[in-house]
Amino acid sequence: MSTDLIIAVDGPAASGKGTIAARLAAHYDLPYLDTGLLYRAVGLAVLAAGCDLDDPEQAAVAARSLDLAALDDPALIGRAAGDAASRVAFHPPVREALLALQKDFAAQPGGAVLDGRDIGTVIAPEADVKIYVTADPDVRAERRWKQLVNRGETVAFETILEDIRERDARDAGRDAAPMVAAQDAVLLDTSDLAIDAAFEAACRIVEEARARKG
Ligand code: C5P
Repeated sequence: MSTDLIIAVDGPAASGKGTIAARLAAHYDLPYLDTGLLYRAVGLAVLAAGCDLDDPEQAAVAARSLDLAALDDPALIGRAAGDAASRVAFHPPVREALLALQKDFAAQPGGAVLDGRDIGTVIAPEADVKIYVTADPDVRAERRWKQLVNRGETVAFETILEDIRERDARDAGRDAAPMVAAQDAVLLDTSDLAIDAAFEAACRIVEEARARKG
């Protein structure tokens, strides 16, 4: 068996998947890609150009000319970027434009950790470990609400809960690479877990998968 280690972490918004994936990457000394940032950057680029998020071709133009240097823009973490991301991610030509970059990242020598919605199903179906992180929508909404308030955004909890439900429905209901657990993914429900406990549970999943593969 190769010693490469590809870890795919998928799940809905504010499930804890990003934090878990980043910590796994640090723990196993692997490069990490938050693929949600790609869709967020495309969404913001479409808005900045005054184009229509729901027009597949206009969104695909932005995806094809994505500036990877813009992925550290703090605006990408905001609420508007999350909504815009989910709307452009709906379009197959946008997903197609971002496919090779993500597949190449996953296939680099040594392995990688990627998080998103379709890593275990589309981007890296060959991943050594697949974790599907989930949590109750109310718990996720509360986490996201606290995050946004700490960043200085003024927004009601109910608005965030509605955002989360709407985004879950759009991400899970689309035809192209819908948000779904891969058949061979291990489910990790973080509803009752603090982040350290969630990370430890994820490490156990990785170790068990590695042991199984010998
Ligand atoms: O993970 P994050 O909340 O940053 O993702 C923003 C949006 O980008 C998601 O709601 C989803 O629509 C889209 N996305 C996707 N596929 C991925 C990563 C993100 O469709 N691999």
